[in-house]
Amino acid sequence: MEIAIIGASGYTGGELLRLLATHSQAQVVCATSRKLDGTPVDRIHPHLKGFTNLTFRNLDADTIDADFAFLAVPHTAAMQHVPRLLERGITTLDLSADYRLPLEVFEKTYGVKHTAYFPAPYGLPELHRDEIRNAQFVACPGCFPTGATLAGAPLAGKARAIIFDSKTGVSGAGNSPSEVTHYPNVGDSVVPYKWTSHRHLAEMKMELGKLGLQSGCYFTPHLVPMNRGILTTAHILMDTPITQEEVTTMYQEFYRDEYFVRLQKPSLAAVRGTNFCDISCESSEGRVVVVSAIDNLVKGASGQAIQNMNLMCGFRENDGLTGIGLLP
Ligand SMILES: NC(=O)c1ccc[n+]([C@@H]2O[C@H](COP(=O)([O-])OP(=O)(O)OC[C@H]3O[C@@H](n4cnc5c(N)ncnc54)[C@H](OP(=O)(O)O)[C@@H]3O)[C@@H](O)[C@H]2O)c1
Repeated sequence: MEIAIIGASGYTGGELLRLLATHSQAQVVCATSRKLDGTPVDRIHPHLKGFTNLTFRNLDADTIDADFAFLAVPHTAAMQHVPRLLERGITTLDLSADYRLPLEVFEKTYGVKHTAYFPAPYGLPELHRDEIRNAQFVACPGCFPTGATLAGAPLAGKARAIIFDSKTGVSGAGNSPSEVTHYPNVGDSVVPYKWTSHRHLAEMKMELGKLGLQSGCYFTPHLVPMNRGILTTAHILMDTPITQEEVTTMYQEFYRDEYFVRLQKPSLAAVRGTNFCDISCESSEGRVVVVSAIDNLVKGASGQAIQNMNLMCGFRENDGLTGIGLLP
């Protein structure tokens, strides 16, 4: 299957190229960048030297020739490409926020008008596998909502409130330099941001609401000086206290058939570069503390996107995604 990556010079685009290099059915034939037209891909992504002969091209939805397209572009850029890609029969997956939320929620949360809205499956395979299978278009979840939703899902229907506290690596902000990501501003420190108003909270509320969490969903992210990873601590306040044995059994049953969810003490090193989400939980005094660890660029973005592609195209769900983490 021939693949196009729109926005291939960015972090998630580079990660799609890295992971797809080991896919048994997919070959990347087109990598776009508007600014780097004519530049060899391995000049920008040197770790891919020997694994790609592609050159970045400034192509759009009218000129791309492929069976499947990934959009690894900022929100509002994706909606400019999606309708034409689908009209041309190109199965498409969007990594941006443009199609993750209902229209009114998207416009309120992102403060922009949507110009080409339609409802799309939410690409979290552990919760929506049947909708994703054989779909022509899927919206991939945000990185924080992936780790948070997987941590909270088994208890969402029994919780009074869930408070998510996440620590993220700096690659979550994309590859454009900014004051926030300038090394002296982020190094040797931990910085909370958007304490009560991060846009990803809307996705967590949407997904956990579907599972029965009526209200009481809160989220505070922190930027920490590392390249990759999101560690999320979920404080789940229960209506009725639950024993350790009960909570362990619930998580084991909920994720029994999920290859990419491992129930073990999470550490970011153990999932780095992989599509795994490691989860563990402890119950005490009416509160269950659940911790999840993902690589924001893999299970939080490009790996999950490929997991979705595999389902959409009838490939083995872990094709291209069998890499093992890096420890230490
Ligand atoms: N980083 C993460 O951890 C993460 C996780 C989950 C989801 N996401 C989402 O994935 C998307 C990409 O994120 P990223 O971190 O890879 O961003 P990035 O590093 O900033 O890369 C963005 C890419 O999009 C291209 N681009 C920008 N505007 C465009 C437009 N209007 N039309 C076509 N191409 C355009 C850029 O290249 P040119 O400017 O040269 O065209 C670049 O290749 C974003 O929507 C982000 O929210 C990111």
